[in-house]
Amino acid sequence: MNQQTIIETTNVTKIFDSSGLTVRAVDEVSLRVKAGEFVGLVGPSGSGKTTMLAMLATLLRESDGTMMIDGQDLGAMGERQRTKFRREKIGFTFQANNLVPYLTALENVELMLRLNKKNGRKSRERARELLTRLGLGDRLNNLPAQLSGGQQQRVAIARALIHNPSVVLADEPTASLDTERANQVVGIFADLIHEEQRAGIMVTHDLRMCKYVDKVVQMVDGKIARVITERTDIELLAGTSEFDRLDKPAPAKQKDPISWEAPPLRMPIPVYGGAD
Ligand SMILES: Nc1ncnc2c1ncn2[C@@H]1O[C@H](COP(=O)(O)OP(=O)(O)OP(=O)(O)O)[C@@H](O)[C@H]1O
Ligand SMILES: [Mg+2]
Repeated sequence: MNQQTIIETTNVTKIFDSSGLTVRAVDEVSLRVKAGEFVGLVGPSGSGKTTMLAMLATLLRESDGTMMIDGQDLGAMGERQRTKFRREKIGFTFQANNLVPYLTALENVELMLRLNKKNGRKSRERARELLTRLGLGDRLNNLPAQLSGGQQQRVAIARALIHNPSVVLADEPTASLDTERANQVVGIFADLIHEEQRAGIMVTHDLRMCKYVDKVVQMVDGKIARVITERTDIELLAGTSEFDRLDKPAPAKQKDPISWEAPPLRMPIPVYGGAD
């Protein structure tokens, strides 16, 4: 019943200062995610979702507040410690998938294990198994350029999960997938989070994907505007064809009534840092 809290943020704020313009991208966000809990993070473009994920991934430092993962205070860690922590405890996929172009699908996934010095035969088997489960069993030896956008995204998802991280963060993992694939991938993602007791957060613009999560957190203007935990409310949200339920306007030139394309990521994201 009382599952362990893995992620705990308290009044976390991120302020960006660029060319005289100050943006409170994340504004006093307090969030808890337990082991085995899958959270959907939704909200309009620019509401701070990616910034929140980047801070949890230790890629960006908070301006104020505290962030705890697995009982460790991220703000108290030095850069080297954060890199090691990220490698061992965090799995993530970002809006841009950041696959290494000259490594095959299998090698991209194995890379995470190699960085953690765990690249035995068993690890390779796990990488193969995970990619197969994600429908890429016949694409193991393809380079990213030889894969479709959706296939690349699935390799990135496998890479986020392969090293058994405590925390899995996914920013728009279904942006380049068709509906059937999106359902399949997020379904597997949810299963792996539940089975392996990870804390998972997925940012999505596609409310239909919320049917796989245990809790929906809506951000507006950097703040948490709403948290939905009741199953019936989540199902309702996932089945809704209108954004009205979340009181947010959809962009005018939207093709699909319940999803819109996210603009490209604005901050340069380093992937896991180099091996030391
Ligand atoms: N490196 C940066 N420098 C200055 N401002 C930034 C930077 N990164 C993000 N911002 C600003 O912070 C706010 C939150 O951005 P963020 O990328 O977190 O939004 P988001 O919710 O992920 O949006 P989207 O759904 O479009 O991906 C935006 O106003 C954005 O312009
Ligand atoms: Mg974003």
